[in-house]
Amino acid sequence: MTPRPTALITGASSGIGAAFAHRLAASGHDLILVARRVEKLNALAGELRAAHTVAVEVFPADLSRPEEVQRVADRLAACESLALLVNNAGFGKSGKFWQAEARGQLEMSQVHVMATVQLTRAALPGMVARRQGGVINVSSVASFLPRSSGTMYHATKAFLNAFSAGLELELQGTGVRVQALCPGFTVTGFHDSPEYPNFRRSKYPAFLWLSADQVAADSLADLKHGRLICVPGRQYQVLVALLTGCLTRPLMIWISRRFLRRSV
Ligand SMILES: NC(=O)c1ccc[n+]([C@@H]2O[C@H](COP(=O)([O-])OP(=O)(O)OC[C@H]3O[C@@H](n4cnc5c(N)ncnc54)[C@H](OP(=O)(O)O)[C@@H]3O)[C@@H](O)[C@H]2O)c1
Repeated sequence: MTPRPTALITGASSGIGAAFAHRLAASGHDLILVARRVEKLNALAGELRAAHTVAVEVFPADLSRPEEVQRVADRLAACESLALLVNNAGFGKSGKFWQAEARGQLEMSQVHVMATVQLTRAALPGMVARRQGGVINVSSVASFLPRSSGTMYHATKAFLNAFSAGLELELQGTGVRVQALCPGFTVTGFHDSPEYPNFRRSKYPAFLWLSADQVAADSLADLKHGRLICVPGRQYQVLVALLTGCLTRPLMIWISRRFLRRSV
């Protein structure tokens, strides 16, 4: 009997990662759930085991610590049924790079960039050998827009787009797919962090808010079609088209400098 496909999701304890877990369990994937908050992972694992006939492994790890990323990488490399890696763990930081505590900025590059690179490197040889699999790197619409605050957030997410694009080229013909998932504002725990004490969702028009489930659903649908960049929601597809168009990009950058400076 062929084993069920396994998906490993980082940052599975809430938000978009948890939404991926629900969708992937419903489609018959065994799961390995990675994050720091073990009680949240255990609660989600219990819920998923009760609702679907899948195996769910809770794998607590702090991805800002290289030795803990290595433990996850070893688990990935040993997983012969690995079908999908979702590099989703992430967080935001407010304030200017040159004023913010250096440690938090370095942690961000460790979680968004280094952990993603290390885990992807561990996952790919097995996927290529089996001639199937997928890697989803959770980036952001912000990756298309340099801004005067949150420099490291934008830069690390832009790295994920470039990294995914390079991998896609390398992996042509191997049966393995790669995606950079670029959501806009999504209702999750992201903006509830102490980093954003003054953030109010209601300050932004309702049409800008995506649900975590919609983001996960669009991402998995686009992965099936082999689309490298997934931008969930028509409103954000239009925004990204404006941000990347050679005629409209200068205007969009001017608008963002003028109006978004202190927004998040
Ligand atoms: N929400 C948005 O508007 C939005 C928009 C674009 C992109 N994104 C991206 O979407 C991804 C998921 O975020 P979300 O919106 O779902 O926010 P969220 O609800 O706050 O989830 C973030 C997840 O990342 C995990 N995480 C953070 N630091 C970690 C670390 N050091 N080690 C291991 N896990 C860590 C958290 O788990 P623990 O705290 O339990 O470790 C949590 O499961 C992020 O990469 C974010 O940049 C979000």
